[in-house]
Amino acid sequence: MTWTKLCAVADLPEGAAKTFDVGGFSLAAARAGMRVFVLENRCSHDDGPLGQGRLVASGDLATGNLATPGAAEIECPRHGGRFDLATGRATRMPSISPIETFDAKIDGESVWVDVPGDDG
Ligand code: FES
Repeated sequence: MTWTKLCAVADLPEGAAKTFDVGGFSLAAARAGMRVFVLENRCSHDDGPLGQGRLVASGDLATGNLATPGAAEIECPRHGGRFDLATGRATRMPSISPIETFDAKIDGESVWVDVPGDDG
């Protein structure tokens, strides 16, 4: 487990995704209240840049009350495929295959992500 600082909490606005390059990975990150979601920045349909996509929520993005998988999704800007923010599961065509997700946390004023490092 390799926790790496992603950014300051203030640099990750609610309701919008941002992209980051960390440890050789291109990542898409989104925040809902004090919950942070980090996924690979590459749509499984045709490599669309998910970090430039919009967030879609049936829960409350402002409070982070998104405990149910599927409550919040990211929509690929290329063809509209969607993925569950929490699990990476594809939820709307034309995306079928899941994408990778990464553990992330807020500690103090910083957002941290667990990306595979030398220890695995
Ligand atoms: S590249 Fe993402 S839906 Fe086609």
